[in-house]
Amino acid sequence: MGTLHLTPLQPFAAEVTGIDLRDPLTPTQVKAVEDAMDQYAVLVFRNQPLTQTQQIAFAKALGPLDMGLRKLKGGPHRLEYAELADISNVKVDGEVADREHAKIVGNVANQLWHSDSSFQKPRAKYSMLSAVTVPNFGGETEFADLRMAWDELPGWRKQQVESLHAVHYALHSRFLLGDNQYTEEQRKTIPPAIWPLVQTDPRTGRKILFVGIHACEIEGMTIAEGRMLLLDMMEHATQRQFIYQHHWQVGDLVMWDNTSTLHRGRWFDFAERRELRRATTEEVFA
Ligand code: OGA
Ligand code: MN
Repeated sequence: MGTLHLTPLQPFAAEVTGIDLRDPLTPTQVKAVEDAMDQYAVLVFRNQPLTQTQQIAFAKALGPLDMGLRKLKGGPHRLEYAELADISNVKVDGEVADREHAKIVGNVANQLWHSDSSFQKPRAKYSMLSAVTVPNFGGETEFADLRMAWDELPGWRKQQVESLHAVHYALHSRFLLGDNQYTEEQRKTIPPAIWPLVQTDPRTGRKILFVGIHACEIEGMTIAEGRMLLLDMMEHATQRQFIYQHHWQVGDLVMWDNTSTLHRGRWFDFAERRELRRATTEEVFA
């Protein structure tokens, strides 16, 4: 059956029932999920604990898989698949990492508003994040709708930003957090990607204000002026009325469209265990 039941949580987020993500998706279900993602941009599936193999299979039904930053760090991986991102504060030995551990800066970087892999081409399309262990307090994930952000920009701003291009760089957010121990070679491993600041979704025709923490410069502007404009746009895009906040329960799977939303994790005590797993598809142009 391909009919999903959608209960809106926000204008751009809905809870989905009527599907078991452990089973292979039928073509009708794939289309239903894609259509729901076009209408909303964040979908919440409760009580769907997936094995790593099931999570990979679900993601693969929706597109080719994205590897994110893993090409930068060849270190040991805790999960069964290199294509799964380990969104956790847990070390390879299964223990919670100390605050000083190199892994924690990645947890902190995820608390900045971003779109996954916007620093590369192809960029990420869908991210599917599955909750394995959640902290007692905090650690929510927030989402902001960049289509609504565009719609709500004043006319003079729309005109100002309409044809600009932003430079997105993988390590910009790391540098911001003081994480700058990278060799010249590592700095060049993922060269910057350039994206139009205003985009039209080829599937829905809706316009999108494509900002986020990986965007660090505007082409043709001084770094200072470009960065200030990007900060202003990000402040606009992340106003409370454009946000859905997800409170995690074990077994939740939340899926979002990186081409039309931003997301960030919220504070939690790094001494507590928080373990999520992410599968991500790449954007493909038809
Ligand atoms: C991610 C991410 C935020 C969080 O998985 O891509 O940014 O709350 N997660 O863990
Ligand atoms: Mn992310």
